[in-house]
Amino acid sequence: GHAIIGGHEAVPHSRPYMVLLLMNRPGGRIGQCAGFLLSEDFVMTAAHCQAESYKVFLGLHNYHDQNGVQHVNVPGRNAFPMKGYNPVDCRNDMMLLKLSTKAELNDKVKPIALADRDDGSLPKACVISGWGSTENSKYMSVKLLELNVTLTDNELCANTNMYCSEGERGPGQGDAGGPLVCEDGKAYGVISASTMNPDGSKIQSYKKIPDHSIKEHKGKFFKNYMYCL
Ligand SMILES: *[C@@H]1O[C@H](CO)[C@@H](O)[C@H](O)[C@H]1NC(C)=O
Repeated sequence: GHAIIGGHEAVPHSRPYMVLLLMNRPGGRIGQCAGFLLSEDFVMTAAHCQAESYKVFLGLHNYHDQNGVQHVNVPGRNAFPMKGYNPVDCRNDMMLLKLSTKAELNDKVKPIALADRDDGSLPKACVISGWGSTENSKYMSVKLLELNVTLTDNELCANTNMYCSEGERGPGQGDAGGPLVCEDGKAYGVISASTMNPDGSKIQSYKKIPDHSIKEHKGKFFKNYMYCL
């Protein structure tokens, strides 16, 4: 399955930028994504998390304890997907969501800075987090889970403006839109999709945030079916 495998519970409120998004999708379907707070007005998430409307949860750790959690209802017109987003292959899978009422910043609700460095090297000591599905359940995780991930210089990820990690451990369904946070505590990527290597092993992809140049991709990576998380 597509799941955070081997993740563990985050220390409550140690990632105060983390946002849970519940989405109302056409036909009354409910979806789940994550996001991260950039300012008191804006949340960053994945473009494939577009919906008719959103319920945004700020300052959440345990879904069963909504004490002190800020809830913001956001209409779909407040969502601004990145230009060039392609729903077929999850390319440029990044979106800004403008909150309809400002977040109240406190110890449990704080923005994260975006990485501005893009020197071609892979950032180190990266961690992802989310309330997505786990190896034990296809439903959401009640508590925020986190996982250390190592980025790989996979040839399939070259020239796609993505960071990638490989292996069984990684983000799950419902974790999309969450941040890839590395070395200096800044957000370097947005959890986007998973696909398979030719040998059947998994690759997870993160939309790269320092996005100074949109490189033309070489076509190889995206011939595989991309599974938006
Ligand atoms: C995750 O990485 C951090 C440093 O980047 C380290 O301190 C921590 O022990 C690691 N956690 C696990 C479970 O490996």
